[in-house]
Amino acid sequence: MAIQAIIGGQWGDEGKGKIVDLLSKNANIVARYQGGANAGHTIYKAGQKIVLHQIPAGAIRKQCLCVLGRGMVIDPIGILEEINLLEKHNINVDNRLFIDNYAHIVTPIHKLIDKTNEIKSGNEIGTTCKGIGPTYTDKYERIGIRAIDLLSPEILDNKIQTRLDIAIKKDEINSSDLNQLKVDLKIYYDCIQKMKIYIKDTFPLFHDNIQSNILIEGAQGTMLDIDFGTFPYVTSSNCSSGGIATGLGIPGNKIQYILGIFKAYTTRVGGGPFPTELFDEDGKKMAKIGHEFGATTGRSRRCGWFDLLVAKYSVQLNGFTNIALTKLDILDSFETIKVCIGYEINGKKINNISEVLNNLDHVSPIYKEFEGWQCNIESISSFDALPDNAKLYIKFLSDFLQVPITIISIGPKRNQIIFN
Ligand code: GDP
Ligand code: IMO
Ligand code: MG
Repeated sequence: MAIQAIIGGQWGDEGKGKIVDLLSKNANIVARYQGGANAGHTIYKAGQKIVLHQIPAGAIRKQCLCVLGRGMVIDPIGILEEINLLEKHNINVDNRLFIDNYAHIVTPIHKLIDKTNEIKSGNEIGTTCKGIGPTYTDKYERIGIRAIDLLSPEILDNKIQTRLDIAIKKDEINSSDLNQLKVDLKIYYDCIQKMKIYIKDTFPLFHDNIQSNILIEGAQGTMLDIDFGTFPYVTSSNCSSGGIATGLGIPGNKIQYILGIFKAYTTRVGGGPFPTELFDEDGKKMAKIGHEFGATTGRSRRCGWFDLLVAKYSVQLNGFTNIALTKLDILDSFETIKVCIGYEINGKKINNISEVLNNLDHVSPIYKEFEGWQCNIESISSFDALPDNAKLYIKFLSDFLQVPITIISIGPKRNQIIFN
């Protein structure tokens, strides 16, 4: 059994979808272990863009079983939307989509609580309002609704009514939203009926078939990890590789390869510290050329230079065995490219981000500058054919991180890829 994980090394949107699509060619199972519809993973099939939020990007490959693991929080309305979207692209997931029976389930009540919290706080965290935080909260409060509950109408009705009563009693939602909530709950019940057939104990899929090639698809990114990210500006799950063991029931020592996905620069969507963020023309240029708008919410992504302290921490935390560097083509026209190699705070040099994780808003990045290659690389097909300045940039990152960069992505399409 070969198991490989693909994990975002920064603040999400690194291009995980594209790399999963690429590597799922040889997989027979693709599994998500955490998060939910907050993710937006973009892939291209026959030139057409598809964005998946909960169903693993491996769904595009007909031979892949798609597993939504126990560590996820699953939104039935979103699942049905994705199944319909895939149908439109002639992709059928019947008999190959499996939702773990003990995964927790998002309801319209959770989504409304998420939205209400965001409004109350002035959108400080800037969540996706997909109900992620409130659903994980219920899980840890041990009052959550699990997929298995959807199979017993009585238990489900009871749990939903109880949750609604709590939300009203605790003022978690506004009474003016109740009418719309009732409409949403009706749609929700319809979707549950259709989603039921996919619910299954997924544990044996990972342990009973030694022939399997399993690809694990991370969502979000390391710096959004609830324990190791920039708390409280994080998501509510363990997106780093540690989450795999609890989210799928696959122990760490079974995973041979952990591929870290890094954009050739950095982006972040939502609130929170971002040391290398750019507010100048370079930042605007990255956003424009990189089409940096969220695949889930459409919000503008903040842009900045590559941060090696983030990347080093991410390598150490996740145990990356190799790296895929994406969106290198976005830097094609830059005269100078900067990379953050350290921080400074109160005159002190910082080499490890963990020392200042709680103080990240106050650090100043120390940059090393590279000469840009200033030519179009989107059609190049081998590492050797890359411009020398691009090779130097890649080599510097790889040497600093002590991890080989084995995949370089130079465009959104499947064939815009270089193996090194
Ligand atoms: P994910 O959440 O990590 O799967 O990433 P997203 O799909 O949210 O965002 C990545 C965006 O960059 C998508 O629009 C991709 O189509 C696009 N993309 C991925 N790799 C490349 C690349 O190498 N170059 C360019 N120009 N776009 C890319
Ligand atoms: P993918 O898988 C980028 C961010 C949100 C917000 C914070 C908390 O596409 O890389 P949440 O709704 O999870 O409670 O929001 O996390 N966030 C993401 N940012 N990519 C994602 O997923 C994200 N999922 C959540 O913007 O700042
Ligand atoms: Mg995304």
